[in-house]
Amino acid sequence: MASTIKRIGVLTSGGDAPGMNAAVRAVVRACIYYDIEVFGVYKGYDGLINANIEQLYVRSVSNILSRGGTFLLTARSQEFRTKEGREKAYENFKKFELDALVVIGGDGSFTGANIFSQEFDVPVIGIPGTIDNDLAGTDFTIGFDTACNTAREAIDKIRDTASSHERLFFVEVMGRDAGFIAVNSAIGGGAVAMVVPEHNWTIEALIKRLRKGAANKKASNVVVIAEGCQLGNAYEVADEVKKELGYFDIRVTVLGHLQRGGSPTTMDRVLASRLGVAAVEGLRNNESKVMVGMINNEIAYTPIGQAIKTEKRLGAEEFRIAKILSI
Ligand code: F6P
Repeated sequence: MASTIKRIGVLTSGGDAPGMNAAVRAVVRACIYYDIEVFGVYKGYDGLINANIEQLYVRSVSNILSRGGTFLLTARSQEFRTKEGREKAYENFKKFELDALVVIGGDGSFTGANIFSQEFDVPVIGIPGTIDNDLAGTDFTIGFDTACNTAREAIDKIRDTASSHERLFFVEVMGRDAGFIAVNSAIGGGAVAMVVPEHNWTIEALIKRLRKGAANKKASNVVVIAEGCQLGNAYEVADEVKKELGYFDIRVTVLGHLQRGGSPTTMDRVLASRLGVAAVEGLRNNESKVMVGMINNEIAYTPIGQAIKTEKRLGAEEFRIAKILSI
């Protein structure tokens, strides 16, 4: 069936992620390629509510492929959580004669997209953009690879000073309730252990691992702690370990928001480019209320509700590998 989509709005929402700009660029250029007018909505859903919207052209997205952050700006809109807020957003959706919306963000943004799409029968498609990688329906989210590289690079640097002083470091990484960044940066950075929200690790087990390392004369020890892990934050875990293993000289580093910035890796740029084009092509093929993702290197459309409700599990394989290599 011929597509009726003539005007698309695109926004970025929630925590920014490296590669969001690349995704916007892909959406804009794919729209223009297919003769569709495209409008940038600034500051996430707040821009839709406040009519902070303007048309984008081919050159509007020049030189943004390599830039972190999002030139469309982003927000975690409180107003869009309310019915009144969404009504205002719909008024502007109609005022700008938009036919569909592309939302680049994470689970919170997709929850809003799903409700909006159902309430007003508006075609919406989501592109997964979050460093956390906590969305089902895609092997990887945009920004995850860059964040892992940033965290791993920081761990490499910390290891230099850790081994020079024979210290034990606890490095806290982001990921909200998901341990994907922790696991990847820990394996990539050769950490002795990683503590993640999904795993029921105890302080005793961690201490046992560290004791074993000390007995094996390990030259340096870096433990990666995911924010949101059940044992507490990196400082709390370090305090507990210190009580038992007084011989370690311990330091703590919290990487924080630096993991959200920086130029996206090639992996993230390619992922964002492919998903951006697929989002526009999906809308042309009457896809709606779906998230476009990549599974086994193939484009896949998953109902948004399913993408946010299905828990994406960390593989047990990574833990097995990390344990073998930590001796
Ligand atoms: O969802 C991305 C993320 O960076 C999480 O890893 C982290 O828990 C959260 O956002 C931090 O949010 P904020 O930038 O609002 O402090």
